[in-house]
Amino acid sequence: TTNREHFRPVYHHTPAYGWMNDPNGMFYKDGVWHLFYQYNPYGSQWENMHWGHSTSKDLVHWEAQPQTFEPDWLGSIFSGSCITNGDDVVAFYTSAGHHQTQSMAISKDGGMTFKKYEGNPILTSDKPDFRDPNVFWFEGTKRWVMILAVGQEMQLYSSENLKDWKYESAFGQEYGNHGGVWECPDLMKIDNKWVLICNINPGGPFGGSATQYFVGQFDGHKFTCESMPKVTKWMDYGKDHYATVSFYNAPENRHVVLAWMSNWQYANQVPTKQYRSGNSIPRDLGLFNFGEETYVSVVPSKEMLAMRGAKVRKPTEACEIVVDVKNQAEIVLSNSKGEEVVMVYDGQRQSFSMDRTKSGDVSFSEAFACTTIAPTYGHIKQLRLFIDRCSIEAFDAEGKMAMTNLVFPSEPYNNIKVKGGKATIYEIKK
Ligand code: FRU
Repeated sequence: TTNREHFRPVYHHTPAYGWMNDPNGMFYKDGVWHLFYQYNPYGSQWENMHWGHSTSKDLVHWEAQPQTFEPDWLGSIFSGSCITNGDDVVAFYTSAGHHQTQSMAISKDGGMTFKKYEGNPILTSDKPDFRDPNVFWFEGTKRWVMILAVGQEMQLYSSENLKDWKYESAFGQEYGNHGGVWECPDLMKIDNKWVLICNINPGGPFGGSATQYFVGQFDGHKFTCESMPKVTKWMDYGKDHYATVSFYNAPENRHVVLAWMSNWQYANQVPTKQYRSGNSIPRDLGLFNFGEETYVSVVPSKEMLAMRGAKVRKPTEACEIVVDVKNQAEIVLSNSKGEEVVMVYDGQRQSFSMDRTKSGDVSFSEAFACTTIAPTYGHIKQLRLFIDRCSIEAFDAEGKMAMTNLVFPSEPYNNIKVKGGKATIYEIKK
């Protein structure tokens, strides 16, 4: 029944009904990936925040679970994270009432049900924006660390027992982009560096919300950015990639992230009916160097390879298109209604762009029709394009470029024209 709606994605996670925004509290335990999310079960616009819950064995096929948290006397339930600690799973979230405060809840059954802690809230402040706690274990100091979004900075706290939190430091005032409020942080060690993920709204490269990040070091007390203050790095150069955070406790030292595939500029207006918003495909983060800087690489998680079905001659509503490109390539996806998406790889300028101005329904918001453009940090040899009923996610196969954009064509793009490259199309079978 959930597939009846015209724009309902075939292989992206969506709630069966209702409104969804940020992915929350993601973790991996005993072979299961848990995804919680900002959820309004009573309507398909932002309101009444709860945490919804879905689980998966392969990061692609998701099973809906009963919703996890309902609003209480401390407020509605905003974004947060989960940690695993032996058999326990502990959730941290923002109670958004008159003030924003942090609360926690404990699960004894692997994350299926939680009991809110009687001592909530565990952390308070007089700041109006004080939210989205992300907690992890830091071996060096044998303490838990919480990173929190506070206006336009990130604050770090530490704890021995998960209940009592001590302020350590703040990061950000003079670093990166400050076009909006900083939200949904994450802090993780990748190889020998630390990456601080900072979602920001507005201030994104093409307006509205987007994910920036900082590369540096973390000593258990303080994050130190290794770039010059003005340097801004974006994780994805599309318009529909927000609230990106990683799964706690992922196997094989992986850094698997999901984004909310929308933009606060028009998320409440997109032309779906029964539900609103999906998640990006899962991606694995790494690092690469270009010039003097270290950047985060983004590749589709290996689970997506297993989704490749038969090779087909024409694009379908759910397919992966692999394009081997030369110095200059143009890829046009179109349908019989004259709707089209134009993508250009320009080896000279080392850029990749996607034009969705004629992609289909663009009428619901003036901010929707646009062309997004990304630096490719050197040459691209192969592009991977993931097409679903209302989205296109483009990646450089080596991870140096990611671009996520929604599109609402009245019928699937079943035609492709490629200049300066060779396309192989795989059906994605759900
Ligand atoms: C980000 C955000 C978070 C907040 C949540 C509320 O999209 O604004 O900062 O916790 O959404 O739904």
